[in-house]
Amino acid sequence: MSEPIVLGIESTCDETAAAVVQGRTLISNVVASSMDEHARYGGVIPEIASRAHAEAFVPCVSKALADANMTLSDVDAIAVSAGPGLAGCLAVGVSGAKSLAWAANKPIYGINHVIGHIAVTQLQFGPFPEDTLALIVSGGHTSLLHVEDVAHHIDVVGTTLDDAAGECFDKVARLLGFPYPGGPHIDRHAQLGDPHAIKVPQGLTQGKAGQQHPYDFSFSGVKTAVARWIEEQQAQGNEIPVDDVCASLADSVATVLAKKAMRGCEQYGSKTLIVGGGFSANSQLRAKLLEVGVEHGVEVRVPQLKLCTDNGAMVAMLGVNLVEAGVAPSNLDFAIDSAMP
Ligand code: KG4
Ligand code: ZN
Repeated sequence: MSEPIVLGIESTCDETAAAVVQGRTLISNVVASSMDEHARYGGVIPEIASRAHAEAFVPCVSKALADANMTLSDVDAIAVSAGPGLAGCLAVGVSGAKSLAWAANKPIYGINHVIGHIAVTQLQFGPFPEDTLALIVSGGHTSLLHVEDVAHHIDVVGTTLDDAAGECFDKVARLLGFPYPGGPHIDRHAQLGDPHAIKVPQGLTQGKAGQQHPYDFSFSGVKTAVARWIEEQQAQGNEIPVDDVCASLADSVATVLAKKAMRGCEQYGSKTLIVGGGFSANSQLRAKLLEVGVEHGVEVRVPQLKLCTDNGAMVAMLGVNLVEAGVAPSNLDFAIDSAMP
């Protein structure tokens, strides 16, 4: 087959997105976000997000096809995120994608959103070398993965035992009075502060005793330590040095993520680390990973910002991988899985 053309559809959380990918080329990429509607509630409201998907689905898909100068008949397959994510949101995207596949008689692939965050880096950096490791960090996930074969086999090397890194940032941001999502605000303020001003624990730096492997993360204690420190300062009537709090938190989280990622690369003999997920937009993490990558002789592949956050290109790219690998499409009655592993 010549380079497969795949329409990718994404609706796991608050972004309705569609994109067309041909081989390793991004042909079109449309993202509509309902983030502004959630900001005043301090987090994503599933019911609001689901309704927004229902409204944005047809315009997004139509624009992605129009921007690609294509109709549905031009695509070889449709890929859609089937999980993990918010059930109501997934249901809208998956039902819509199934309708398109049925009407146009196209094969459909229900894909894993988290693996999409890995796959998308191919648009910028090309195919994965052997023994690639991937660090996926977002508001819902913090995982270190060994990518043996993106279409068939990925091993979990480590994961968070409690909060995800983005979740930890969002919670601290709330304490500091930033609107949701707070991660980007912490990033911005961290650039102005002293990363060593406040002692923030890194959490699970050595791995828990008796643990199967020392690659897991824990950010709940980090969040609590920062929250306590803020409370103490407030109780003493001290002004909170917001920039320093942000810089110290960002440094602690980036350091432990980078440390464990490099430890994993050493263990697996990986010379390539892929980074993905919304939190990979974080400046402190990007800088730290590139720095330790040079020290350890590991090529760190961090995608451009628009490919870090949720989008349709990641779904379409993984769809292309599945078509190329000859993986059988999903049956039209495949289920969504909000807790997909
Ligand atoms: O992957 P994503 O768009 O959605 C999922 O959670 O699946 O990631 C969103 C998360 C939020 O927690 C947000 O605060 C965080 O990524 N985030 C950032 C930055 N940009 C987004 N955190 C820190 N620094 C950033 N620049
Ligand atoms: Zn995501």
